Amino acid sequence: MKLLVTGGAGFIGSNFILYWLKKYPQDKIVNLDKLTYAGNLENLKSIEKNPNFSFIHGDICNQQLVNQVTSNVDVIVHFAAESHVDRSILDAAPFIKTNVEGTYILLEAAVKNKIKRFHHVSTDEVFGALPLNSRGKFNEKTPYNPRSPYSASKAASDHLVRAYATTYNLPTTISNCSNNFGPFQFPEKFIPLAITNLIEEKKIPVYGDGLYVRDWLYVEDHCKAIDLILQKGKIGKTYFIGGLADDISNMEVIKKILKLMNKNESNIEYVKDRPGHDRRYAIDWSKTQEELGWNPQFGFDDYLKLTIKWFINNQDWWKRIKTGKYLEYYKKQYA
Ligand code: NAD
Ligand code: TYD
Repeated sequence: MKLLVTGGAGFIGSNFILYWLKKYPQDKIVNLDKLTYAGNLENLKSIEKNPNFSFIHGDICNQQLVNQVTSNVDVIVHFAAESHVDRSILDAAPFIKTNVEGTYILLEAAVKNKIKRFHHVSTDEVFGALPLNSRGKFNEKTPYNPRSPYSASKAASDHLVRAYATTYNLPTTISNCSNNFGPFQFPEKFIPLAITNLIEEKKIPVYGDGLYVRDWLYVEDHCKAIDLILQKGKIGKTYFIGGLADDISNMEVIKKILKLMNKNESNIEYVKDRPGHDRRYAIDWSKTQEELGWNPQFGFDDYLKLTIKWFINNQDWWKRIKTGKYLEYYKKQYA
């Protein structure tokens, strides 16, 4: 099988490529990535000489290139996106361009080239925010209600994927997953930002009251779920993927990280809240569990330990990122 992975130099995409080639070494993977600030070929260093892996430096908005790249692949796994909510608040333009227009261009090429499966990776953020202290979770009946430019652009891309499935019979699947964490996550996101700041003896910036709730999914569990969807998922279906059974607030996550890193609460700094900050995400992934036999393998605390260990052992990787443009962004975001 030959797969086109878009955004494979980013956090989840690179974990997926490494996972896939380890499990299915006979398959071929082409990685199409624009190498934005979030794309990093160092993530794929261990497979760069693998003859079954190739990299194309390019934009999913480039119609000619996308047509060419999709002409001889069986499956597309579409990760490429602008992915950070805070950056979408500072400037929504690249989110609309890549997440909406880029997905449209890929879909057109997929129809034209009769792709056997188009898997679209999306987010639970398209469903908006749940109230705090409720037991409710996003489920298959929850209406779309995106509230940030990021989530609105992802919602638009989900709608386009469904429209192409209905109108042109494109064999699609979609997954809406919760917040991922793990190796190679860009240190603008909450968990890697907290861990790397602590290693650098800097404080962890906490938005608002810190009582926001996210559902945390370890990236390798996410990759396994996508694998199962590609192998056993039903064409046209949407699958929910999450990691937790019970709510954990951002402050509880921080306290766990502080404890695991032998630090105290003087390392917390309350900062200005994010505008329109979604209060709570929780996703009901029981249908995915029932249908595909998928489960997160370990618990949140075990994965958090693994993740901290990875960031401690790979300081060169993130110290090269936390320079230049990153510091400019940091200053602007946390001014
Ligand atoms: P990321 O920001 O780490 O990586 C995105 C990758 O896409 C980068 O390598 C970047 O260079 C590439 N890219 C961006 N624009 C491109 C373009 N126009 N053409 C080609 N490549 C381009 O993102 P991530 O965290 O790995 O997320 C991957 C996907 O998963 C996204 O679609 C995101 O919406 C979705 N998702 C992420 C999370 C999460 O917690 N990280 C949760 C739910 C869903
Ligand atoms: P983030 O990793 O940006 O993911 P998302 O906003 O897509 O869920 O943020 C996770 C949570 O952590 C969210 O409630 C915002 C909060 N947060 C902070 O409190 N401080 C920070 O510096 C960042 C980046 C996030």
